[in-house]
Amino acid sequence: MFDVEKIRKDFPMIMNHPDLIYFDSAATSFKPRSVIDTVIDYYEHNNCNIHRGDYDISFAVSKRYDDTRKTIARFINAKRPEEIVYTYGATSSLNIVAINFAKKFLNKGDVILTSEVEHASDVLPWFKAAEQSGAIIKYVPFPKSGRFDLEAYEKCFENENVKIVALPHVSNVLGFIYPMKQIAAIAHKHGAYIAVDGAQAVPHIKMDVQDLDIDFLSFSSHKMLGPAGIGVLYGRYELLEQMDPVFYGGGSNARFYPDCSIILKNTPEKFEAGTPDIEGVLGLGKAIEYLEELGMDNVEEYGKQLAGYFISKLEKLDNVTVYNHGAEAGIVTFNVNGIFAQDAAGYFNKQGIAVRTGNHCAKMLDQIIGVNETIRASMYIYNTKDEIDRFVDVIKETTLEKCVDSIL
Ligand code: ALA
Repeated sequence: MFDVEKIRKDFPMIMNHPDLIYFDSAATSFKPRSVIDTVIDYYEHNNCNIHRGDYDISFAVSKRYDDTRKTIARFINAKRPEEIVYTYGATSSLNIVAINFAKKFLNKGDVILTSEVEHASDVLPWFKAAEQSGAIIKYVPFPKSGRFDLEAYEKCFENENVKIVALPHVSNVLGFIYPMKQIAAIAHKHGAYIAVDGAQAVPHIKMDVQDLDIDFLSFSSHKMLGPAGIGVLYGRYELLEQMDPVFYGGGSNARFYPDCSIILKNTPEKFEAGTPDIEGVLGLGKAIEYLEELGMDNVEEYGKQLAGYFISKLEKLDNVTVYNHGAEAGIVTFNVNGIFAQDAAGYFNKQGIAVRTGNHCAKMLDQIIGVNETIRASMYIYNTKDEIDRFVDVIKETTLEKCVDSIL
């Protein structure tokens, strides 16, 4: 395992806010000094455009930008760096896949199999794909626990032409790790593709796209210590080759002609029109190096330990309902009984504790867990058991009166 106290010193947000307990890393993580320095260094010493400048700084930064694809490919064990497309975040990655599926792979009556656990970014693009192609959206049935039921999932393929399965590897509300290897194997057995929302998985668990045997993986840098505004679409090379860009413009074409014909560059450059988020890419590369140094097995184990510790403490309180018993990925979701989640969060905020409340963009999850508003405490490598103890002491003493007073 790693030395958390040492890690905390790497994060200026923690050093600058010694009294803040930040439990909202599933929304966005803090960034270590090395990532911040990389971004600053780009602007102070290496500011240039890439692939367009005939001078040394541009050559050097272009190389670092291109090499970061290799870093990302290594991190998720992609077969080749060309399978890594830079995007603006998981949401844009998911949209690129859905838009292409609607256009190229889906026909009227085909099934897009997703779930009600899903974040908006992995549902709404598929709603639109269905609308455009005449495909049908179906949902994998989930038990109230929010755990994945492989048997119920496999039944969804009976007498249906499922073309694509779109599921998260880790739920952003429940923090459960879904059995992606089996999910992918079943999808492929039935001739379907699988597109994985990895926004909450890639920061927390060791990812191996070849071992999982998935077709697409979408994730964001800002949830895994990197800058905001940059994300990744991993796709099997042969599938990316068949797909079209969503954006057209400079940098992604080799030639274009008055008759409106365009010769695109190769995959992945054909997807990356316009000046990209250069400092974001460099910062993401640095964030991955930071995580690799800690070891993703350790990161995963630590998230599991924190969630387990937190939940075991909450289970001893009689004023709390927990919704994700046994969660693995650093997320704890609960309510203080009889208190509206946002009112409780207002009180926690006054005590220096940052959490997210509401439906966390998973606006159909209430169909499964039976509640629409929850408090989500999401943790990462820099959080400690001591912070959990302090938060649990606050939760234990939380009353409606205190919440009302904190608003007034
Ligand atoms: N998708 C982010 C979350 O779950 C914002 O909070």
